[in-house]
Amino acid sequence: ISREMLKSNRMSGDLPLNINIKEPRWDQGTFMGRAQHFFMVTDPRNVLMSSEVLEDARVTVENYRLGIMKPGLTEDQLWRAKYIYDSAFHPDTGEKMLLIGRMSAQVPMNMTITGCMLTFYRTTPAVVFWQWVNQSFNAIVNYTNRSGDAPITVNQLGAAYVSATTGAVITALGLKALTKVSIIGRFVPFAAVAAANCINIPFMRQRELKCGIPVTDAEGKRLGESSTAAQQAIVQVVVSRIGMAVPAMAIPPVIMNALEKKAFMKRFPVLNAPVQVGLVGLCLVFATPLCCALFPQKSSMKVSSLEPELQERIRQNNPHITTVYFNKGL
Ligand SMILES: *[C@@H]1O[C@H](CO)[C@@H](O)[C@H](O)[C@H]1NC(C)=O
Ligand SMILES: *[C@@H]1O[C@H](CO)[C@@H](O)[C@H](O)[C@H]1NC(C)=O
Ligand SMILES: *[C@@H]1O[C@H](CO)[C@@H](O)[C@H](O)[C@H]1NC(C)=O
Ligand SMILES: *[C@@H]1O[C@H](CO)[C@@H](O)[C@H](O)[C@H]1NC(C)=O
Repeated sequence: ISREMLKSNRMSGDLPLNINIKEPRWDQGTFMGRAQHFFMVTDPRNVLMSSEVLEDARVTVENYRLGIMKPGLTEDQLWRAKYIYDSAFHPDTGEKMLLIGRMSAQVPMNMTITGCMLTFYRTTPAVVFWQWVNQSFNAIVNYTNRSGDAPITVNQLGAAYVSATTGAVITALGLKALTKVSIIGRFVPFAAVAAANCINIPFMRQRELKCGIPVTDAEGKRLGESSTAAQQAIVQVVVSRIGMAVPAMAIPPVIMNALEKKAFMKRFPVLNAPVQVGLVGLCLVFATPLCCALFPQKSSMKVSSLEPELQERIRQNNPHITTVYFNKGL
């Protein structure tokens, strides 16, 4: 880091050094702010960034943290560099992440996998193959995104991979066996996602259902633990996960069912998969960031809906409180 750069920064001095580029650019308390943030984070164009552009963004971000700026750097350029940097480098280790594990690869990868799942749903080998592809992709994302301070071992990753693949294949084949009608068969991938979420999330969070999750007042002061809040948190997460799958997995089958009857599609059946992938992509690009933004991470409920003992305790210590808050989890 050269003395010249420091000097030129001091002379131009155009951008204040106190912009917090660790945080999202937009207010996460509002729907619009969350939507803008998630659109930036999932922007698939970031996948195509050359290594020079990435390197440039890295230098800009790391230098800014040290208080050094290129002359003439604007706030927009700085935020752009931040989002490019975040898209490609691991937040804990600073290493460059595997391409297909990045957030910016989620939409293209997801639309390909979902589109193919919705197209090739008729035969058992195809169902098994695409469930396997999806879980392998998930495993890569898990590996790429593993936290830096408590690294998961390869054994743990492998165990999760095997159990996730087995579960997904069994659910999909089970549902497939139940349905023989064409239009219903098309919804099997969606039903599999819904069923998996309804089973997995309560199962993984059963401890919270038993022992409760912390509830706080508006300022974040802890008031106690509540299983009722845990129930509500889990229902919200399951609903929002299934809701997120609706645009991509429930709408394209309806359109495809109509399209496939058209003479044009009958003449060129090879168009099936690309059209399906395109439809899913269209839904994902718009629906996923909006769905992520829909529910704030902090949820609330009325004191009067909590367990009686906890209500009693809150009324004694804080009689003015009517609403409690809790983190709904992922
Ligand atoms: C990776 O983890 C971060 C935070 O730990 C999260 O915000 C992000 O959504 C994860 N990315 C993927 C692709 O799962
Ligand atoms: C792929 O697997 C993940 C995790 O099990 C699941 O949430 C997702 O819905 C699956 N995708 C498809 C298209 O079924
Ligand atoms: C990815 O990680 C999640 C959360 O740790 C786990 O539930 C899931 O089974 C993992 N998926 C694969 C395919 O390893
Ligand atoms: C793909 O998108 C669907 C719908 O938004 C979502 O339910 C699913 O979890 C995503 N799958 C992966 C592997 O990211």
